[in-house]
Amino acid sequence: MGMPTFRRLLGFLRPHRRELWGSMVFAWMAMGMTVLIPALVGKATNAIDAGDEQLLFWLVGAILLAAVLRLGLTVIRRIVAGKVSLAVEFDLRQQVYAHLMSLELGFFDRNQTGQLMSRATVDLQSIRFFLGYGLIFFSQSILTVLLAGVVMFVINPWLALIALAPTPLIVFTALRYTRQSRPAMQEVAQRVAELTAQAEESVSGIRVVKAFAREDHQFERFQGAVDRLFDQSILSTRIQAFFTPMIGALPQLGTALVLLVGGHQVLNGTLDLGQFTAFYVYMLMLAGPLRTVGVALGMGQRAIASGNRLFEVLDREPELFTRPGAKPLQAGGGAVKFEDVSLSYGPEAPEALHGIDLDVPGGTRIALVGPSGAGKTSLAALLARLYDPTAGSVSIDGTDLREVDIPSLRHQIAYVSDDSFLFSDTIAENISYAKPDASREEVERAASLARASDFIEALPDGFETVVGERGLTLSGGQRQRVAIARALLADPRILILDDATSSLDATTEQQIRASLAEVMAGRTTFVIGHRLSTISLADECLLLDEGRIIDRGTVDELTARSSLFRELTGSSGEEPRFVSEEEEVPA
Ligand SMILES: Nc1ncnc2c1ncn2[C@@H]1O[C@H](COP(=O)(O)OP(=O)(O)OP(=O)(O)O)[C@@H](O)[C@H]1O
Ligand SMILES: [Mg+2]
Repeated sequence: MGMPTFRRLLGFLRPHRRELWGSMVFAWMAMGMTVLIPALVGKATNAIDAGDEQLLFWLVGAILLAAVLRLGLTVIRRIVAGKVSLAVEFDLRQQVYAHLMSLELGFFDRNQTGQLMSRATVDLQSIRFFLGYGLIFFSQSILTVLLAGVVMFVINPWLALIALAPTPLIVFTALRYTRQSRPAMQEVAQRVAELTAQAEESVSGIRVVKAFAREDHQFERFQGAVDRLFDQSILSTRIQAFFTPMIGALPQLGTALVLLVGGHQVLNGTLDLGQFTAFYVYMLMLAGPLRTVGVALGMGQRAIASGNRLFEVLDREPELFTRPGAKPLQAGGGAVKFEDVSLSYGPEAPEALHGIDLDVPGGTRIALVGPSGAGKTSLAALLARLYDPTAGSVSIDGTDLREVDIPSLRHQIAYVSDDSFLFSDTIAENISYAKPDASREEVERAASLARASDFIEALPDGFETVVGERGLTLSGGQRQRVAIARALLADPRILILDDATSSLDATTEQQIRASLAEVMAGRTTFVIGHRLSTISLADECLLLDEGRIIDRGTVDELTARSSLFRELTGSSGEEPRFVSEEEEVPA
């Protein structure tokens, strides 16, 4: 059952087969020396027995030479194998990363970051150890056993048969070990992934943890994951604790048999002392390779368990991709059309949007207003084809988005969310993220439009300041302004501002408002927000509730006729609050 995985894993060695064969050949030559040494020791013993000092001298020289050669070959083999191992890891890592990047957003909604991280690190390691070292150990050990077996048969077939009698028992034990141990190991890897996920979540959410002083609670949850890993590792270790020494001890049985039977033959005079010594040394020497077979089998299992988990990710086809033959988004004014669009985020998730029909002429500024969870962000996400609608179609300038090349579409759309993500890079790089070839003047102009220049220039290195992980060193409002600058610089056909000014104070917002009005002119824009000052920039407002567009009109029209709109925008003089149908306040 592990065979197809095994074969696929071997496939990763193909680009490095020259080095692999190289290290195999070195390993086999070293093994040749290993097998030669006991035979020479046997001869030396006979030389001592015969009192031939001259021969003894030459034999000791040969043994030393063989030992030195073996040393040199092993060093070279390790260097070459290490390179193969690292190269495999390097290739795999890039492949996994590239594949993850190709997957649609929905995949990341459903999978924990920590789990993915664990696959990308722990599993990669065990695969690389096996492909880089395990395979070579295995072939070397098996060959050592075979070759030593042949030499032993040549020296004395009967004694060889007796000495090697326990070998099938060893192989059988190793196989049983494999069978019991593999599922246990797979479960260990899974629990390592859970643990990583736990740790990752605590670190990402550290602000919330600290703010609510829930370190203890977080620690307990982590402790739970640690315990689960511990229990499973103990189980797995128990299996190992039983089998590994067994596999190591069984060859001793052979040694004992050789001493017993061979010793008897020497006393009888049917076996000379040199042959007996050679046999004895072979048996001692074989204990190592036989154990290594067990170790290599273990590495193989772990690699197969890891391979299965990794292939699960690699085999996950992107569900949202550019159709073959799709063309770049053709030039146009940015007209947007939704036809009977529904969206649900998963087979079991309730629909987030139902039957949306929307026709927006190019260059129109639209405000989306609605209670939390109404589907505003979802509607915007459909525009950038971050998700495909479950039913209906979304089109821009007359082309269904599913028929458009995805990068060409996304280059035409800039999206600023309320949770502005910045990369740990310089401010300038963060602003020019969507337009990497932008000149410094363009970057500075975008920053100035977003009213970000003042605070950026006050930073230690100005535009070259590196912002910390997730932009922690900037305030929420500062981050938002950088994100707005990024969107303005992209000069998109369609601009989406999703609560993009939510963290700004009224004064800064007023200042940005002028810039926004400037960049929104003649550009299809979706503004999501509640502040009257922001949504009054729009030509028209859509009122969303529970995944439906329930009203459409200018700010004045909606203020006049919809109490929900007044509630949301605070235009009735009250604080914005969310009302249900029953408690509608009379106008
Ligand atoms: N990535 C997601 N996976 C699953 N469900 C989601 C996802 N994003 C949103 N939803 C669900 O879809 C519905 C609409 O969410 P959406 O984010 O579009 O609301 P919104 O109008 O933008 O709200 P807010 O004003 O709070 O940002 C909600 O019920 C939400 O639970
Ligand atoms: Mg939203």
